[in-house]
Parts: sequence; C-alpha cells; structure tokens
Amino acid sequence: MSDQVQPSLVQPSKDGDVGILTVNNPPVNALSPGVPEGIIAGLEQFEKDDAVKAIVLIGGGRTFIAGADIKEFGKITSLGDRRKGPGFLGVLDRVESYPKPIVAAIHGTALGGGLETAMACHYRVAVPSAQVGQPEVKLGIIPGAAGTQRLPRLAGVAKGVEMCAAGDPISAKDALESGIVDQIVEGDLLQGALAFARTKIGTSPRRTRDLNSKLGNEQTNAPIFAFARDAARKKARNLMAPQAAIDAVEAATKLPFDEGVKREAELFQDCLFSDQSKALIHVFFGDREVAKIPGISKDIAQIPVNQAAVVGAGTMGGGIAMVLANAGIPVLLKETDQAALDRGLATIRKNYSNSVKKGRFSQEEMDKRMARIRPTLTYDGFGEVDMIVEAVFEGMALKKQIFGELDKVAKQGAILASNTSTLNIDEIASATSRPEWVIGTHFFSPANVMRLLEIVRGKATSKEVIATLMALSKKLGKVGVLVGNCRGFVGNRMFGPYRREAQFLVEEGAAVEAVDQALYDYGMAMGPVATGDLAGLDVGWRIRKEYGEIRDTSVRQPILEDRLCEMGRYGQKTGAGWYKYDENRRPTHDPEVDKLIEQVRAEIGRTPREISAEEIVERTIYALVNEGARILEDGYALRAVDIDIIYINGYGFPAYRGGPMWYADTVGLKKVYERIREFEKEHGALWTPAPLLQRLAEEGKTFAEFDRKVAATA
Ligand code: CAA
Ligand code: NAI
Repeated sequence: MSDQVQPSLVQPSKDGDVGILTVNNPPVNALSPGVPEGIIAGLEQFEKDDAVKAIVLIGGGRTFIAGADIKEFGKITSLGDRRKGPGFLGVLDRVESYPKPIVAAIHGTALGGGLETAMACHYRVAVPSAQVGQPEVKLGIIPGAAGTQRLPRLAGVAKGVEMCAAGDPISAKDALESGIVDQIVEGDLLQGALAFARTKIGTSPRRTRDLNSKLGNEQTNAPIFAFARDAARKKARNLMAPQAAIDAVEAATKLPFDEGVKREAELFQDCLFSDQSKALIHVFFGDREVAKIPGISKDIAQIPVNQAAVVGAGTMGGGIAMVLANAGIPVLLKETDQAALDRGLATIRKNYSNSVKKGRFSQEEMDKRMARIRPTLTYDGFGEVDMIVEAVFEGMALKKQIFGELDKVAKQGAILASNTSTLNIDEIASATSRPEWVIGTHFFSPANVMRLLEIVRGKATSKEVIATLMALSKKLGKVGVLVGNCRGFVGNRMFGPYRREAQFLVEEGAAVEAVDQALYDYGMAMGPVATGDLAGLDVGWRIRKEYGEIRDTSVRQPILEDRLCEMGRYGQKTGAGWYKYDENRRPTHDPEVDKLIEQVRAEIGRTPREISAEEIVERTIYALVNEGARILEDGYALRAVDIDIIYINGYGFPAYRGGPMWYADTVGLKKVYERIREFEKEHGALWTPAPLLQRLAEEGKTFAEFDRKVAATA
C-alpha cells in the first residue's frame, strides 16, 4: 500500500485495485471545512484512475467521522450559504452516484453527518465495537444531509424513526441486524473493508436512495409515527427537534427521495436557528468545558484510585459505594452498628435488583458489583485504600471527629473526601494534619443516578487531588464541576433564593399547584414546591435553625415551610408536606395547607393577589440568575457555563434552555436586570442586583462573553 498523494484532511492512497480515502481530522474526524472537499477531490482522482475499481472510505485515529463540526454551527446565520454551492448534501449525492463501489469502513463512532456519509456510500462494514447513530436531536437539530431519508431505507421505518427522534447510538451488531451495516469485520478493519470492496468490483453500485422496500405503507406506518410522537412528547417534553425528526422520516415514507430531502431541509432550518438548538450546543461544549481548570494542566500527575472506602451507609453513603463499585473499584463501607450496616446493604441490594429486573444488567453482574462492596464496623483495611469518602450526618462536630480519625488510619497519599452538602471544607480539613489531601465531593441524591458531582476545592487542596477527582468523576459516569468553598457551594446556594421565592409567591397569593405548574411548564423536571417535599423540608429547616436564621427580622423570611415542619409535615417521607401523599407517593391537594396559608397571609397582612405564570417564572428563575452572578463574581464558580451544567445535571433544569445563566443571556441581561430592580423596589434588599449582573447589563454584555474573557486569561 502506498501512493500517498497529498497531505490534507483526507488522504488518498491505493491498495492494488482499491482506492483508499482516509479522513484525518483529529480528534474525532468531524466534517470541518476541508473534509468534504477532500473526499470529493479523492473521488475525482480515483475516477480518472482506471486501475482503481472500488473505494474504501475510512477514518484515521480513533474514529470514523463523528459528525458535522459543531463549532461551525454558530457561524451559520442563514442557510443561503448552503444553497450557493453544492453543499454537503451535494457532496453526498456525488458520493452516492459515484460509478465505482464505495465502502465505508467504520470504527469508533459514525454519528450525525458521519453516518449520513456512510449511508451515502454503497456499502458499510464495521468493527464489533463501532457505534452508529443520528444524535442531532441532542443538539436541538435533525439530520440535515438526508439522514432521515436514507436511514429508514436501510433500517426500516420503526428503527429509523427511533434513531432519529431519540438520538441514541446503536451497536455494530444492532446495525448489522437492522441493515445499516453489511458486514462486521472481526480483524483488521482496513483489510476487511478491502476484501469486502473487492467482492463488489464490477457490480453496479447499490444506491441507498433506490432502496424502497423497507418504507412500508400508510397503514403500517401510522401506528409507528403515532407511537414515536407520543414517546417524544413524554421523553423530550417541549423539545421541537424530535417531533421535527419524526416529520422528516415520515416525509421519507410519503415523498420521492429528492422531495423528502427538501422537506428535511425545511425542518432542519427551523431547528438550526432555534433557541433550543443554540442552548443544547452550549450544553454540549459546556459538558466538556467544565473539565478544563485554569492552572491545572491535563498532564498533571494523578493519584491512582484502585481501592476506596466510604464512611456512613445511609442514603448518600450507600449510593456512593454503588457508584464506586459500578466503576470496578472495590470499596469498604463502614457504619456505626450492625443494624445500620444491614439497612444500608439491603437498600443497595434492592437498588441493584431493580436494575436487574429492568434488564439494565445481569444477575451475574449484580453479584460482581455487590462483591466489590465490603461492609465493616471498624477502620480495618482503611490504611490500604486510595480514597475515603465520608457521608455521615450533616454536622460539623461529627465530621471533624471522623476526619480526625481518618487522619490516623489513612495512608499518606490517600484522598480524604467529604460528601457534605453545606459545611465548610476548610474547617473539616483542619481536623487533619493534611488539609492538602482533603476535598469535598458533593454527590446528588440518588448518588447512583444523578450525573452531577460538585467537587469542592478547599484553600489547601492540592492540584493533584483536584485533577484526580475531575478525572475520576468521568470514570464514575459523572460530570464533575469544580466549585469553591462557600455555604451550599454553587447548586444549593442558588437553590435557596429559588425556593424562597416559590414560598413568597404562595404567601402573596399564588396556589401551590400554580407555582409548580408554571416551573414545570417552563421545563423544570419538577416544580420547586414539590421538589422540597421530595428532598425533605426538614433538611433546610434544621440548617436554618443551626444558622439561627429563623425569625431573623432584618430581611423578609419565608414562613410557610418552617410552619409545615413544626407540624411534622416534612414532605414525602412523612406522607405530607406541601401536598398530601398516598402510599404510592402520589401528591394531592391538602385543604389543611390552605388553612395554614390563609393563616400566615393574615398574620403578615398580605391580601392575596392574582399572580401570572410569567411572574412565577421570573421571580424564581431570576433569583437563580442573580445568586449565580454573585457566585461567579466571587469566584466560587469558574465560569457561567459551570453553573449551567450544575443546574442541568443536578437540579432538573431544562437543557434546551441552556442553564439559568445562558437563559438569562437569551432573555437579555438588561431586561433581566431591570426586572430585578423592580423586584428590589417591591420586595427589598433580597433582590439587590448582583454587581456583576448590573455591570454586564449596563455594558450590553452577556455571561457567555464573561466566560470567553475567563478562557482568554486562563
Ligand atoms: N464537532 C466539533 N467538535 C467535536 C465534535 C464535533 N462533532 N465532537 C467532538 N468534538 C470535540 C469535543 O468538543 C472535544 O473537544 P475538547 O477536547 O476541546 O474538549 C473533543 O472533540 C473530544 O470529544 P470528547 O471529549 O467528547 O471525546 P469522547 O471520545 O468522549 O467522545 C464522541 C467522542 C462520541 C464522538 C463525542 O465527542 C460526541 O458524541 N460528539 C458529538 C457527535 C455528534 O453529535 N455528531 C453529530 C453532529 S451534528 C451533524 O452531524 C449534523 C448533520 O447532520 C450535518
Ligand atoms: P443519612 O442519615 O441517610 O446517613 C448517614 C449515615 O451515617 C447513617 O446511616 C449513620 O448511621 C451513619 N453514621 C453516622 N456516624 C457515623 C460514624 N461515626 N461512622 C460511620 N457511619 C456513621 O444521611 P445522608 O442523607 O446520607 O447524608 C449524608 C451526608 O451527605 C450529609 O453530610 C448530607 O448533608 C450529605 N448530602 C445529602 C444529600 C441528600 O439528599 N440526602 C445530598 C447531598 C449530600
């Protein structure tokens, strides 16, 4: 094999009678400018070469083409550009109508435009570990290069619509069974692809656009589309792209290929210029941006975490032990007495059994995970582990006592982490002789489910420990976000004002259900009042009592939740909080609460008024934004996007709104600032605008611009 012709993003070479085009655009071979052109140039070169009888298109490095270059999306202001030249669609038409057979050889991932390219080729082979998919909906768009038209022709309507509307990739095996891939190559991919290509020499290329046998008919397709629309409405509430993707696939079943492509283009355009798409692209890059910590380079030495221990087998400790065991890390789990340990283990076993019942993994896999968790009542073995996570009750004295003990038993070089949700990490670290090894790991409940991990940096925490936790979070399937050491850190600190406003709105006249409904309609996974019932109203109540904040008369305080707690109504766990709960934890309206609300309104002299859904959203969401701006200015979050990622992954904030800070940018900071000023006039100092928000609003800037400045100075 030789004949390297020109160094570019796509390198042509030859192996006897087969031409090879290798895409080399690290890290993921995205279709950046130059790649489509390189493919066309290579094809033109091979078309003239009579010695070349077939072509293999393959990716260099770790993957086949992983899709369009998402960075380019933001630069597109109109699709007029697309119509000027042949565009990417034209490139794929050229590939499909090529006179010699073209085989796509897939390893890694063929996603989005990558799969569209592969489908425009005449045949596809893949290694067993490869994955293919149309994940565009996750970016708020739909396939825009005939993916919705070619995929159902290869895989059938049901599979095609599922892949385009849900966006999840499928395995090579599944792709083979569905007809997307023609052969699995067990050994060397290129050799396998060359051999396959040779079997097609002399045959007329099979064009996907001509394959109509799997397109079904109106009668068979109607229930498929109805089911897909219903599933998308439930799973992707308020999102436009999944519905548009379904419309586009439906067009494939009703219109000739070129007409269907036109319909796809219209739907693609609507999605591409939507706020939802811009927000989801912000989230895609944000998910990756949070891993970049100024001052901590990627190659800093990390501490291998091969064995771990958890102190406390309660709600959080049990979940954290599962997270570690799931990642293959053996973990000691310590409790104070046998009964608590048994309870903790029983919960873990029940959670794993549920996963087995749901088919997420096998009984054998569950047994392996359970075997990694070793229950104990002593510190025996703690001297050998690389990381210890403390998850005992929230109380400074207890946490300091535990860290004092850990300091004695842990080996030098072990990471000592606290899963506190509010307490000062530096004070906890002061109970040890090695504060540089101490860090906060704030998991979210249920720890084995929620994706967010706030990593709390103490003033002495070493860079190595931070780098290790950031990398470990990925291994644990979490998105780790580094935060500073302030009360409540980032997420809970912002959640305070958000829930405070929800309560004020009820005091002022809004119905409990109306507050929850407005935020649910906005896109939150759950309304703020119902969330309080879920998490336990007593948690905040105890903290407020500990900090002596109840009945502080210098600022307006929410009253209702403290009263509910005084009545023993802690939320779901006591069968009653803001709502009443049946044995299945289904909420119903409770007239008792109405009485309490009336009483409190009378006490504070509030005449109930009509409150619109718009005001409910502004009061609660702008409270998040204002506190977020303070956190940002004080340096407790590195970037606005870090706050967004925290809220999306830990608090059920809708990703299609990009997170609270991005959402504020979308509304316009000037408008948000002015509304907050109005709230300040009406409700007092709790609403004083954050200085950073004021500055950005006055300068006509955005949080995104603030972030760019941070990145430039890092
Ligand atoms: N465009 C631009 N940059 C991309 C990219 C893309 N399509 N995919 C990944 N990257 C970047 C990431 O931002 C990251 O950059 P940094 O290192 O600077 O942070 C780098 O490539 C590596 O990515 P990951 O960290 O995500 O690497 P991974 O190995 O964990 O995952 C992957 C690889 C599965 C390909 C994952 O990156 C991914 O899912 N990418 C997006 C794929 C996608 O959505 N494709 C469809 C695009 S839309 C489309 O194609 C529209 C169309 O129809 C024309
Ligand atoms: P929990 O009450 O469910 O569990 C605490 C466990 O610690 C109990 O089982 C108790 O027996 C055990 N324990 C107490 N002292 C111990 C000791 N000396 N040695 C070993 N075990 C001991 O509490 P939960 O909810 O798990 O909270 C634990 C920590 O996680 C707290 O700091 C809390 O603030 C934090 N957190 C809680 C979240 C939640 O939603 N529950 C979310 C995030 C953080």
